[in-house]
Amino acid sequence: MSAPWVYIKDLKDHVGETVCVKGWMYNKRSSGKIHFLQLRDGSGTVQGVMVKAEVPEEQFAAAKALWLEASLEVTGTVRADDRAPSGVELTVTDLKVLQNPTEEYPIGKKDHGIDFLLDQRHLWLRSSRQNALMRIRNEIIWCWRKFFHDRGFMLMDSPILTGSNGEGNDGLFELDYFDQKAYLAQTGQLYAEASAMAFGKVYCFGPTFRAEKSKTRRHLTEFWMLEPEMAFYDGKMNMDLQEAHVKATVAHVLENCRKELEVLERDTKPLEAVLAGPFYHIDYRDAVVKLNGLGSDIKFGDDLGADDETILTQQYDRPIFVENYPRDAKAFYMKQNPADGGETVICADLLAPEGYGEIIGGSQREEDYDKLVARMNELKMNLADYDWYLDLRKFGSVPHSGYGIGLERTITWICGLPHIREVIPFPRTIYRIKP
Ligand code: 4AD
Ligand code: MG
Repeated sequence: MSAPWVYIKDLKDHVGETVCVKGWMYNKRSSGKIHFLQLRDGSGTVQGVMVKAEVPEEQFAAAKALWLEASLEVTGTVRADDRAPSGVELTVTDLKVLQNPTEEYPIGKKDHGIDFLLDQRHLWLRSSRQNALMRIRNEIIWCWRKFFHDRGFMLMDSPILTGSNGEGNDGLFELDYFDQKAYLAQTGQLYAEASAMAFGKVYCFGPTFRAEKSKTRRHLTEFWMLEPEMAFYDGKMNMDLQEAHVKATVAHVLENCRKELEVLERDTKPLEAVLAGPFYHIDYRDAVVKLNGLGSDIKFGDDLGADDETILTQQYDRPIFVENYPRDAKAFYMKQNPADGGETVICADLLAPEGYGEIIGGSQREEDYDKLVARMNELKMNLADYDWYLDLRKFGSVPHSGYGIGLERTITWICGLPHIREVIPFPRTIYRIKP
């Protein structure tokens, strides 16, 4: 009878039993009489010890002939071993080789440049560092869905193929859609607004696309964004929700991903600090003054540049809301501030500390039909493309607010990485569409 298949992460519950591990060999050391096979199966890693005297001769020879990343079914007895990272070792009694490569694994021991590694992304994902990053991504997505589900939000997916774009005409991916033009969604927001009028509190979560020409450490051309939209929420309630959402995310990762943060050598103190008090709020006008004092030449009317966000967020130990940007720096749908005659809008970007910068863009939306149309005309937008969106202001319009949080920006910050490209399984950037 064959031994039961057990995932490596569960081996510790099977000490003394004979089990089968199915996976890949990521490393091997040998003496003349023993092979030490380093095995991984996606759930963890374990060392398999094969002693020449204890297995058939042809099996010992087969193990000797293995190349890195050979796929295997390894049967053995689980032994407790305090020195092993997984707490156990496998004494190998039987080895079945599913496929043995006939050439050297491209990602060996050597240090490789980032371009090479990105070319090998389909294989690079097998490394322990990438395993840790993808597990954290997986946990954050789970946490986000649960956060909104628990608060009574409906998941309402927005389309990816759209005829009306939400964030202006820059950075649009255009494609032929039969005899019309279509665009890949830059945002799901406009549809989330329609959904919020149907369900009250909703969110959409999916890939969004920006044909960003900029090659920066913060930009992907395809990234995932979660966008909540809430009827009857003002700007303040919107920010309170964002703070709860971001704190829940950090707390979840600290609670569930300690091992992964260790693999990444992430100092967790700055993350703990995020939970230690309320987020900061600064008015855009004050941010400009502060930035000028820090050496930036930003002036009223400009959006904060990446460098501005870096130097500003280095001043704080928790995330900062920058509020009330000038109207012309932001999208058409934002509600104008009655307090200054509409020179600014009721919006906030949430900037992550430690130099990371914007992870959320949010605002209260203009709910007044006439004001919205006037603004769209000012921007020379084609109203016919947005007739359905304008209907939301004709049939039971209500104050409403929402935001968009970038998944990859959030992971990059929480993991303390210098660049966004490693936190999505297959990154798309201006120079990269393969693999
Ligand atoms: O500030 P943005 O452009 O806002 C919107 O799209 C709104 N419609 C959201 C809303 O109110 N529903 O983008 C929101 C977030 C940014 O804060 C950032 O985290 C992320 O999306 N983001 C990107 N992430 C990676 N690469 C890019 N090129 C990104 N552009 C935006
Ligand atoms: Mg933004």
